Amino acid sequence: MAEPNRYRPGRQHTSRTYPVIPPIYQTTTFELDDQAYEDIQGTGGLHETWYSRFNNPTVDAAAAEVAHLHGASQSLVTASGMAAIATTLVTLLRSGDTLVAARQVYGDTNDLLERDLPRLGVDVVRVDAFDVDAWRDVIATHDPDVVYGETLSNPQLRVMDIPAVVEAAHGAGAKVVIDNTFATPMCTRPLELGADVVVESATKFLAGHSDVVAGVVTTDDRALHEEVQRRIITFGGAQDAHAAFLVWRGLRTFGVRLAEVCRTAASLADLMASEQEVSHVVYPGRSDHPDAGGAVERVMPGPHGAMLTLVLEGGDERALQVVRRLEVAVEATSLGGVETLASLPFNSSHFNMTPQQRIDAGILPGMLRLSVGLEGEEALAEDLRRALQRTDA
Ligand SMILES: Cc1ncc(COP(=O)(O)O)c(C=O)c1O
Repeated sequence: MAEPNRYRPGRQHTSRTYPVIPPIYQTTTFELDDQAYEDIQGTGGLHETWYSRFNNPTVDAAAAEVAHLHGASQSLVTASGMAAIATTLVTLLRSGDTLVAARQVYGDTNDLLERDLPRLGVDVVRVDAFDVDAWRDVIATHDPDVVYGETLSNPQLRVMDIPAVVEAAHGAGAKVVIDNTFATPMCTRPLELGADVVVESATKFLAGHSDVVAGVVTTDDRALHEEVQRRIITFGGAQDAHAAFLVWRGLRTFGVRLAEVCRTAASLADLMASEQEVSHVVYPGRSDHPDAGGAVERVMPGPHGAMLTLVLEGGDERALQVVRRLEVAVEATSLGGVETLASLPFNSSHFNMTPQQRIDAGILPGMLRLSVGLEGEEALAEDLRRALQRTDA
């Protein structure tokens, strides 16, 4: 006889409590019924909730929130941004295919493009992300199957002209995949600009609290969505329910967080432009941005994001001194949290390039990247001004 106080799963569960917040379904498996067996036998179990590497209601709740932000019908939440990127590209590409990809991409994506995809027989051709003529030329010459780029580059914060690249790529019959991590759906919705797939590290602004590693794949192409889902299942990139719950919870405040951090970043950009120790401010909302009036208008018309790059007088050594003197912003890698993070490309994201290679890539000595958080414009401006003061004068 069943003991009355013991939890009984599934069909025996007759509770009339309806939670406002999605429960964390911390369960690997779900009680089976005839409908589940039918789906397992029909689609391989893609649609029913029966095993958490295939489907989990908490993970699905987070995915639905991201889909909503992109105006899409569905998304897939993965164990990391890299799981989202790698699974998408390996789903779309096969041996003998050609991928045309931006030269300026996130470091681990670069490893995937340079080290792993060629081993699988994919021909990878690189192109300057911000030269639309070069995209057109390379696409016309190489007739790619897939085209890949990032909305905003790190740390130069250049904006990729997504509609122009989409036009060239679709003309050649290629699918377009865009990493929208830095811009977020608050500033750019690549599907609305014609891209076929958006991949994002939800670790950053989407989850927004620096407490979870996660990724997202969003496409309105139902067949492609299922193909990616099949690879998440076989490659094992599924997200865990607990982590997915943190993504879901972060997404509940995405709109207000992003509105605030974008506003603060725009103000800080203007305030820092008048500081003597700052030789240059890079922010997509400023009229002196290299893509102002062009790609910025088409791709990121406003708000202009929460990433801000300062070029400091005195080079990298001086930038390191300044970062070490910050008391509000935290010296750390990553981005998109509620706290402001400061990092230096020369000793973190781009440490493996020579100084000259960095300059050639537009990563200037003295560059300091800020991911602006919720501390408020006044506190952050004061922190930066104090850190910028010369102690040797
Ligand atoms: C632009 C971009 N794409 C992808 C990733 C990878 O995301 P994750 O660390 O969640 O795997 C990162 C991480 O920093 C990133 O900055």
